[in-house]
Amino acid sequence: MKIKFLGHSAFLIDDLLIDPFIKDNPICPVKIEDIKCKIICITHDHWDHIGDSFEIAKNNDATLVGVSDTVKKAEEVGIKTEHMNIGGMVKLGDWEIILVPATHSGNPSGFILKKDKTVYHAGDTGLFMDMMLIGGYNIDVALLPIGGRYTMDIEQAVEACKLLKCKKAIPMHYNTWEVIKANPEEFKKKAPCEVIILKPGEEFEV
Ligand code: NI
Ligand code: MN
Repeated sequence: MKIKFLGHSAFLIDDLLIDPFIKDNPICPVKIEDIKCKIICITHDHWDHIGDSFEIAKNNDATLVGVSDTVKKAEEVGIKTEHMNIGGMVKLGDWEIILVPATHSGNPSGFILKKDKTVYHAGDTGLFMDMMLIGGYNIDVALLPIGGRYTMDIEQAVEACKLLKCKKAIPMHYNTWEVIKANPEEFKKKAPCEVIILKPGEEFEV
């Protein structure tokens, strides 16, 4: 499984794209036209997460996956969708996709993405105790926000790693703008698990 960081909360994991905030993302090094994917998961409908998902879905004839209220609009413009809600699971290609809670405004969620390995994308969230239950999925890699202000900061993300008992963590949702400035090296130093810091455009084989 290859995890490519596209900046902010956007990742391309093999043929699955999450929260593709590309065009208006000042730290994203790739162009919309160059992204190839079959599945697009959206954690919530804030602009820095739903991003360019409609355009990329159309370019790739990809299926958009997320909370019903979020993907409904995509369906109305002819995009293939899989409606879900918290606790639900869909199988798509080689993937098992499970929607889990997040603590945030709007209709927030996180994803458990299972194939040969299990990845947890936390979406935008504060720290919450149910991360302990999410840890029951036996997480190989957790993608966690560390930028603070709108999500967890470094200290909280460190606590999240303890609750999740994840083997590895990759920080996200930081340094996109000045207001969510954070030093990932500090997270790496404090976290109880291995931390992989990816620069936008870099990938990691898990
Ligand atoms: Ni948000
Ligand atoms: Mn956000």
